[in-house]
Amino acid sequence: MKENDPPQIGAMPLYTHLDRIERGLAAQGIGPHDPIRPEQLFALDQWHYHGTDAIAAAGRALGLGPRSRVLDIGAGVGGPARFLAHTTGCHVTALELQPELHAVGVDLTRRSGLADRVTHLCGDALVEPLHDAGFDAVVSFLAIVHIPDRPRLFARLARALRHGGACYVEDLCQHRPFAPADWEDARRIVYANSLTSQAAYAEDVKAAGFCDVTVTDLTPDWAPFAAERLAAWRQNRAAYATVHGDGAYRAQELFYSVIARLYDSGSLGGVRLVARRP
Ligand SMILES: C[S@@+](CC[C@H](N)C(=O)[O-])C[C@H]1O[C@@H](n2cnc3c(N)ncnc32)[C@H](O)[C@@H]1O
Repeated sequence: MKENDPPQIGAMPLYTHLDRIERGLAAQGIGPHDPIRPEQLFALDQWHYHGTDAIAAAGRALGLGPRSRVLDIGAGVGGPARFLAHTTGCHVTALELQPELHAVGVDLTRRSGLADRVTHLCGDALVEPLHDAGFDAVVSFLAIVHIPDRPRLFARLARALRHGGACYVEDLCQHRPFAPADWEDARRIVYANSLTSQAAYAEDVKAAGFCDVTVTDLTPDWAPFAAERLAAWRQNRAAYATVHGDGAYRAQELFYSVIARLYDSGSLGGVRLVARRP
């Protein structure tokens, strides 16, 4: 990517070197067409904070069970969707923008034996047709920050939920104003298109028609998490690069180091919003 090119989501360091997943499975003795137990993927397919613990907490808060229909916005390679389906028996529609990630997700879900409970959709959450009142819950982990028109997105999510249905989001936000160079990194390395204060985020959710909006500041938890993640990443370089390749190591090192620096500067924050459609 040249300096003046507009940022492209597929070039973001988190979304390159997707073969790191197959390499990680191979290191567990699992071939490219072999079945997979969902647990064997957890270290590879959860692209947010606190891995499956965070997703389990969402499942509990939403009271998900076998009858629940869940929409996951920005599903990545489907880690959260598979975890929820596997642990609660719910049905998840996993909506992902990038065709490459979507294709990996479809393959992993089929090989995990979860294709009857996870439906993958490739599309943009701002335009993908969604059934009115077609879902009991919406979840989204570290994805909405990429999406430029948050008011439109939440208006669509409100319509897609049944009355009384709930939305559970964890995302990045702006904790304090960004210095210009930090802002540039947030745009180009994190592909942040809607970084605002937590208050502005909550206002968008309310304006879309949601009620009972609860906002939890996750910054004090996520900032040290990001620093520890970077330190552990660097310490584990040789072992990671042997399995997944040095390119994959370096791409994520860039991503993790920028994120850690943005928290350190006090500008980046984390937030959880839970809200209900009246
Ligand atoms: C950091 S990843 C998180 C993936 C997943 N939620 C997880 O926690 O493992 C964010 C994902 O959101 C997707 N995304 C970005 N904009 C989107 C949009 N407009 N519609 C659907 N997905 C989108 C990205 O392609 C990326 O896969």
